[in-house]
Amino acid sequence: MTKKPHTILVIGACGQLGSELTLELRKIYGDANVVAADIQYPKQAELRESGPFEIVDVLTPQHLTDLTSKYKVKQIYHLAAILSATGEKNPKFAWRLNMDGLFNVLDFALEHKVEKVYWPSSIAVFGPNTPRENTPQNTIMDPNTVYGISKQAGERWCEYYFLKYGLDVRSLRYPGLIGYKALPGGGTTDYAVDIYHQALAKGTYKCFLSEHTRLPMMYMPDALKGTLDLMHAPAEQVKIRSSYNLAAMSFTPEEIAGSIRRHYPDFTITYEPDMRQQIADSWPQSIDDLAARQDWGWKPQYDLHTMTDDMLLHLKRINN
Ligand code: SER
Repeated sequence: MTKKPHTILVIGACGQLGSELTLELRKIYGDANVVAADIQYPKQAELRESGPFEIVDVLTPQHLTDLTSKYKVKQIYHLAAILSATGEKNPKFAWRLNMDGLFNVLDFALEHKVEKVYWPSSIAVFGPNTPRENTPQNTIMDPNTVYGISKQAGERWCEYYFLKYGLDVRSLRYPGLIGYKALPGGGTTDYAVDIYHQALAKGTYKCFLSEHTRLPMMYMPDALKGTLDLMHAPAEQVKIRSSYNLAAMSFTPEEIAGSIRRHYPDFTITYEPDMRQQIADSWPQSIDDLAARQDWGWKPQYDLHTMTDDMLLHLKRINN
């Protein structure tokens, strides 16, 4: 079999970010050149039908090695992870998946001369002693979820592989991501996606965070643009090799409900905080992303209301 040139491998392609990023990458690089990989087959028809798919468990390095008989992997987006809320239910497994998965990908990248690796970090790297407003790029980091600890350690290892082995690893600390194409799985910021679905389905939403819990968030088109801009930036502009702070908007459940009420005045919300409240309370309320703006020109486009307008428009179309 002839090897395909310049394959881009997306691991975790069926997830909330992966399912959209894979389709964006296929638009840019061509369907056949972007391999979607996940531990399960895609449910989304568009993802399944638009290009190649491979089953990859990141905890089984042989799965990655097996790909080399079919593809010449030039770039990897390694998105597979267990998020904050799910991680707390099985901390040891979350640690193993998030850390061993990262090592397996980084080592594969070194061994097979992969040119660039993308790995997402998160606002979960911050903790209760981090300044909560305008959280700086470099500050106190004392994450207290296993997800946050794994992301913080992962950042150190990404930088280590860059400095010691010259691997071109790039990373962003995402805030909560909101999109209409796929649901998030097991995060603390998931309410901000679910609330739109429930607003349309039931006209009411029971929120697992309290009304004044302010968290940094981002609409998916901005997250995709930020990710691709970072990956397309000349290497010398990518000065931070741990992970960049990235911001777009911050809001509370009460404020997103208000934004939805501009379209559905009868929409109601109730509050029943659960264990995710403690996680949210340990995270920043807003993020200083000056370094990303200065180094490679980051600029978000969506605020709360423009996101709400777009989310509701698309979800209504999908439901009809
Ligand atoms: N959205 C993620 C979570 O809530 C944070 O990165 O776990």
